[in-house]
Amino acid sequence: MKVFVTGGTGYIGRVLIPMLIDEGYDVTVVDRQFLNYDDVKKEYDEIGCKLFREDIRYFDPNLLAGQDAVVDLAALSNDPSGDLDPVKTWDINYLGRVRVGRMAKKLGVQRYIVASSCSVYGFREDIADETTKPNPLTTYAQANIEIENDNLRLADRNFTTTGLRFSTAFGYSKKMRFDIAINAMTLNAFKSGKVKLMRDGNQYRPFVHVIDISRSILNVLGQEKEKVSGKIFNIGSDSLNVKLLDLANIVKNKVGSANEIEWYGDPDIRSYRVSFKKAFEQLNFKTIMTIESGVEEILSKLRSGELQDVPQTHTVEFYKKLIESEMNSLRYGYNIVSRIL
Ligand SMILES: NC(=O)c1ccc[n+]([C@@H]2O[C@H](COP(=O)([O-])OP(=O)(O)OC[C@H]3O[C@@H](n4cnc5c(N)ncnc54)[C@H](O)[C@@H]3O)[C@@H](O)[C@H]2O)c1
Repeated sequence: MKVFVTGGTGYIGRVLIPMLIDEGYDVTVVDRQFLNYDDVKKEYDEIGCKLFREDIRYFDPNLLAGQDAVVDLAALSNDPSGDLDPVKTWDINYLGRVRVGRMAKKLGVQRYIVASSCSVYGFREDIADETTKPNPLTTYAQANIEIENDNLRLADRNFTTTGLRFSTAFGYSKKMRFDIAINAMTLNAFKSGKVKLMRDGNQYRPFVHVIDISRSILNVLGQEKEKVSGKIFNIGSDSLNVKLLDLANIVKNKVGSANEIEWYGDPDIRSYRVSFKKAFEQLNFKTIMTIESGVEEILSKLRSGELQDVPQTHTVEFYKKLIESEMNSLRYGYNIVSRIL
């Protein structure tokens, strides 16, 4: 099966692509790819993955001809990145993905999976499942809801569409992100010996390892079309709805040298928990990775020096730096702000 992945050199993509290749898929990636293009291209060439440095808003639709499935990951990938420029967020995360979905259908692709987020539920007292009315609190979350609505609606006998609402990811990827909670906490504890935690620590958040996110995509690609078409699934695990204080203690214990919790902020009473029963019951999807194993892996790579705290691992800060430095690339003929966002 030929699979076309947008945003496939990002944090999730760098874990997903080798897994797809190992499973025998023929993989093509398009990504704007700000950094290390030659290195990633070489690495993808070596495993037999075709990589095109393209923007989802402008790439030649013919790249989709002959593909069997699209996994649509490309996006400005979190709330703060979205807030940096809400208009561009809308342009990429909504309009760009509308384009990908429609072109895929038109060109005869049979399956389409869009990456969405559990952040569409906003903060709430109860446990959210796929029937819960969304409460998107940011441009990023709003764009996810709208793209689910528009692209899932394209489903018909010949075009299978699925939305996956991922919990907040954690774990190691070759394109590391230290701007997401567990990864950030681990890095800070490693560097400062302190685990930073927003008061009062009783807030719940749902988490999922990046390997399990990739497994969920493989799962959906392998399902009978009727089981997944037009449907949304939360991706995570009931046992990974975690209180932030418990999370801080896990990190503290694993780091060993971190013996203090450093509290900050006013008490944050915003909590959210999510149910993952639907993916379990309908897709038999179960996570296999634990927070402990994710933290351990990051720590071991930090200790060995394989993983470093470089600017590009902090998504928003990195975007801001690129804009400030006006490192203008003329490849697309427009300025760096347009190129980045
Ligand atoms: N990581 C998480 O915790 C998480 C949680 C829920 C949902 N998601 C969703 O999963 C997807 C992937 O997330 P990630 O963590 O890998 O993010 P990431 O930022 O590491 O990767 C996104 C990739 O998309 C690319 N991209 C951005 N705009 C593009 C454009 N216009 N054209 C082509 N490529 C473009 C970027 O270059 C990047 O490689 C995103 O849609 C994100 O919203 C991620």
